Amino acid sequence: MNIQTTALDVAKIREDFPILAREVHPGVPLVYLDSTATSQRPRQVVEAMERLIYHSNANIHRGIHVLAEEATAAYEEARGKIAKFINAPSARQVIYTRNTTESINLVAQSWGRANLKAGDVVILTEMEHHSNLVPWQILAMEKNLRLEFIPVTEDGLLDLDAYRELLTLEPKLVAFTQMSNVLGTINPAKEIIVLAHAAGAVTLVDGAQSVPHLPVDVQALNADFLAFSAHKMLGPTGIGALYGRKELLEAMPPFMGGGDMIKRVELRSFQPNSIPHKFEAGTPAITEAIGFGAAVDYLNQIGMVAVESYEQEIVAYALERLAEIPGVRVFGPEAEQKGAVVSFLLDDLHAHDISQVLDMHGIAVRAGHHCAQPLHDKFGITSTARASFYIYSAFEEVDKLVAGIYKVKEMFA
Ligand code: ALA
Repeated sequence: MNIQTTALDVAKIREDFPILAREVHPGVPLVYLDSTATSQRPRQVVEAMERLIYHSNANIHRGIHVLAEEATAAYEEARGKIAKFINAPSARQVIYTRNTTESINLVAQSWGRANLKAGDVVILTEMEHHSNLVPWQILAMEKNLRLEFIPVTEDGLLDLDAYRELLTLEPKLVAFTQMSNVLGTINPAKEIIVLAHAAGAVTLVDGAQSVPHLPVDVQALNADFLAFSAHKMLGPTGIGALYGRKELLEAMPPFMGGGDMIKRVELRSFQPNSIPHKFEAGTPAITEAIGFGAAVDYLNQIGMVAVESYEQEIVAYALERLAEIPGVRVFGPEAEQKGAVVSFLLDDLHAHDISQVLDMHGIAVRAGHHCAQPLHDKFGITSTARASFYIYSAFEEVDKLVAGIYKVKEMFA
């Protein structure tokens, strides 16, 4: 099999990621196929963070000395880049959080607590990861909400007819992932949102997987909320973002109290700050915000259309190669409806055994339920092995995965 890609110069990209050149056992080079859990970071991101630390480190929004002004400017400039990356109408609509999980908890605890009441219906899907399930379960317990789920078909797609039925319940919120972290399914987000709005619901898009891998435009989608993390898109851990519609964010009560989220504080009361600062209590992850902005710069340089098209090529190649191996069962849809994620099982082996033997050959895949237990329950399994790809993943690494899977077979034969 010799598929040549035209979309990206992967060899050149790999030079920016020193970790990809390391060995994980003596003489065994790393084959990193776990970018869905966390991506690797290029030099450019580390250098941007280093520049801030060595040159302009100070707290933001608090000082009037040169360093404080530089750090504040860099922090806000990064917010502007992130806003532009998702085509938000204004940087004020992008709130820094710790990660996708915190972004969704923010919406649940602030918007949800203020706007949902007993008996209200919230629609989720059966393919959500725990970050877009548990925050709603917590709120449902507190408020006695009714949670409903768009079913997943055998092919790993959302059942949109069932969704249309569920919308007759007049839900207050539809919260769904734009791309499954297990099946790779790219959901028809625009259609889901149009239908939700027609039924009077607010929408939350979990973009943890989609924002790193596809062009995402919040205005074209008409999404009310979008949650995503930096560490899955070449940025550092500890920082993520929540985009929100302006009117919703302005009406929402603060999520956490503390410094910076206030205009004025008296002993028994406070006046909240305006957005986005209303939701950013305490000293934030300043260095990480700069790294997030640098990650966006890096992706912009490549172009998200090229990112998406390269990943379509590599996932199609991976599916084709895996199909050659007797005993491999791949979960999720065909390549055209899938991002660069392939979850699979081999014969009757446990995913941990598959992953452990692959690791002996330097191949890092994730094994387990990938924080999506209900989805695995749905398919009657407890875990899968998952190979995931990004802009630095080479076609030869797919070949190495295939060779590694044959070694697993031999070992357990
Ligand atoms: N949600 C992350 C994953 O899929 C942690 O691995």
